[in-house]
Amino acid sequence: MAEPVLHVPSLSAEPNSDAAISVRGLTREYRRPRTSLRHASAPVRALRGVNFDVAQGQRFGIVGESGCGKSTLLRIISGLDRATSGTVMVEGTDITGLPDRRLGFLRERLQLVFQDPMGSLDPRMRVGQLIAEPLVAQGHGRSTARVAELLEAVGLQPDAARRYPHQFSGGQRQRISIARALAPEPHILVADEPVSALDVSVRAQVLNLIADLVEELELTLVFVSHDLSVVRHLCDTIAVMHEGVIVEMGPTESIYENPQHPYTRTLLAAVPTLRKALTGASAADLAEGVQ
Ligand SMILES: Nc1ncnc2c1ncn2[C@@H]1O[C@H](COP(=O)(O)OP(=O)(O)O)[C@@H](O)[C@H]1O
Ligand SMILES: [Mg+2]
Repeated sequence: MAEPVLHVPSLSAEPNSDAAISVRGLTREYRRPRTSLRHASAPVRALRGVNFDVAQGQRFGIVGESGCGKSTLLRIISGLDRATSGTVMVEGTDITGLPDRRLGFLRERLQLVFQDPMGSLDPRMRVGQLIAEPLVAQGHGRSTARVAELLEAVGLQPDAARRYPHQFSGGQRQRISIARALAPEPHILVADEPVSALDVSVRAQVLNLIADLVEELELTLVFVSHDLSVVRHLCDTIAVMHEGVIVEMGPTESIYENPQHPYTRTLLAAVPTLRKALTGASAADLAEGVQ
């Protein structure tokens, strides 16, 4: 059976140096362990030719089911993994061929928030240290005032700085991760399913926080979710990924109102109930509060 055509806008062959992020022809293959002495296993093709531009200030959502290559894509645009082929340009700099030691500049341009805040927060460090760490790493020194400002920005009390990650709820820990990501004043925030591990009531609050910060700090946002209702709330543009390619991309409303690709229609038919949680968020906002 022929694959359905892709519904994506046409892009220049070369990456766009004016974009916040420009990706062309990106592939990533992972080797699988050999299962036969005579034949090498076929590699896993996690990305099979991905192209897109994220403009400065755009809020770009990437959706697709588990295993379609979303995290692989984010790791590569953040310099944490390497493409097999293709080009990634971040704010006009081609990072594809750069050695790790020359990727340090990326940290001041682009920061990541992951799904599991416990996995990215060292449990032995106090919250103040955790938030100051990226500042210290960049030679800015540790500023108590700056840490307090960041805690306030994410809705936590200044005394949170003296406590440890395990003393907070899941939602609060994700707030700490966001404060840490914002510490180096990045222009681009990349979030990989940042609310998927949280209770539904808390999700809405964290999403609202991200939306407010993106607007206030004029950030470019790349936001990944397997859940279309989450990206609809936050993003102006959506890319739908399926088996390592973007099958459809366009303004959020047109993806919702007039989906073109059969896979997008399948995803939309399965949209869960987050909208209910979002509209009921105000009571939950008060309930979670800040200890
Ligand atoms: N380090 C790795 N080694 C081998 N295979 C991997 C690795 N990382 C991801 N994969 C495979 O690549 C595909 C895409 O994975 P991933 O990017 O994590 O998808 P998603 O984030 O959309 O769930 C999956 O088939 C996954 O098993
Ligand atoms: Mg993932």
